[in-house]
Amino acid sequence: MGLMDFGAVDLGLRDFGLMDFLRGRTEMSVQPLQPDDLRAAADIHAESFARGWTDGEIERLLARPGTFGLVVRPVGRKGLAGFILYTLAAGEAEILTVATAAAWRRHGAGAALVKAALLHMNAERAEAMFLEVEEENAPAVSLYRKLGFREVGHRKDYYGAMAASRTGGKSAGALVMRRDLA
Ligand SMILES: CC(C)(COP(=O)(O)OP(=O)(O)OC[C@H]1O[C@@H](n2cnc3c(N)ncnc32)[C@H](O)[C@@H]1OP(=O)(O)O)[C@@H](O)C(=O)NCCC(=O)NCCS
Repeated sequence: MGLMDFGAVDLGLRDFGLMDFLRGRTEMSVQPLQPDDLRAAADIHAESFARGWTDGEIERLLARPGTFGLVVRPVGRKGLAGFILYTLAAGEAEILTVATAAAWRRHGAGAALVKAALLHMNAERAEAMFLEVEEENAPAVSLYRKLGFREVGHRKDYYGAMAASRTGGKSAGALVMRRDLA
C-alpha cells in the first residue's frame, strides 16, 4: 500500500514525509499486518508496554469486524520496525495501539504508521480519528500533535496503579485526542 494512495495532499501530510527524506532517514514501507507478522508485533508490543499483548491477542483483535493492522518495515532491512492497530465504527476511527521497536525509534516509523492509518480511514470516509494516551507519554503526545491531533478530553487516573508505579507514584491521567478527517 502506497502512503499517497489515500490522498495525502488533502490531509496535509505530504510535507512530513519530505522532511524525513531530507533528514536522510531510512525509508519506511507500510503494509497491512499479515499472520506472519503477529509474533514480531507481539515482541514489539511487549518491549513497549508494561502489559504486552500476545500474538494470539493481537490476532483475535484483528478478527473483529472493522479492526485493521499495519506494519512498517525499514526498506532494505529485515524485520518489523513497528505496527499499529485501529478500528472504524459508526464513522469514527480509533487507534488501539501503536508501537515502534526500541531499536527503530525516532526514525519516522511511528509517524509513517499513524499517517497511513489516517489516510486509510480518510479513504473510508471516517469523520475523525480518536485515541487515548497517557499524558506523561511525551514521545507519543508529540507524535500525535505533529500529525494534527488535538486534545478534546482528559481522564484522571485512567491508567490506574500500573501507570502510577512507572511515574513514581504520581497518578497518570489520559488525554483523549482527535484528528479531523476530510
Ligand atoms: C510513541 C512512539 C510510537 C513514537 O514512535 P517513533 O517511531 O519513535 O516516532 P517517529 O520517529 O515517527 O517520530 C515522529 C515525531 O514524534 C515525536 N517524537 C517521537 N519520539 C519522541 C521523543 N522521544 N521525544 C519527543 N518527541 C518524540 C517527534 O515530534 C517526532 O518527530 P521528529 O523526530 O521529526 O522530531 C514510540 O516512542 C513508542 O513505540 N513508544 C512506546 C509505545 C507507546 O507509547 N505508544 C503510544 C501509546 S498511545
